[in-house]
Amino acid sequence: MIGLGCDHGGLELKNIIIKYLEKNNIEFKDFGTYTPDSVDYPVYAKAVAKAVASGECEKGILICGTGIGISIAANKVKGIRAALCHDVASARLTRLHNDSNILCMGGRIIGPEHALAVTEAWLGTEFSGDERHKRRISMIEE
Ligand code: RB5
Repeated sequence: MIGLGCDHGGLELKNIIIKYLEKNNIEFKDFGTYTPDSVDYPVYAKAVAKAVASGECEKGILICGTGIGISIAANKVKGIRAALCHDVASARLTRLHNDSNILCMGGRIIGPEHALAVTEAWLGTEFSGDERHKRRISMIEE
């Protein structure tokens, strides 16, 4: 189950990602926002981050205008490793090395096709499990 969240700056891209997830039969829970009205991104960051940290959702995808605010907010929740990625290499590497559990993107920064390539790479890459990466993740947790 993928938890989704966005503010008004990320709504359009979130809706594109929803279509991609539906087409690929990937289960998701949409935590909002649902309309283009101006809202505060920390609300949606917190909702998705808590759902991922509690295990309700395996992973999350958060989108605001730049992806920056929503990633900063998500990373305040213990157990969350939210990665802001606007390229496929970073999306792959953050799964391999950081075992990131939330992908953040900026709806005003990245185009839809590129965003779907980033999403596909991030969802399709497993954590490497290497001891050195596990050690570093434990250090973050501490
Ligand atoms: C909202 O206008 C905008 O500040 C927000 O979407 C995001 O870019 C913040 O980091």
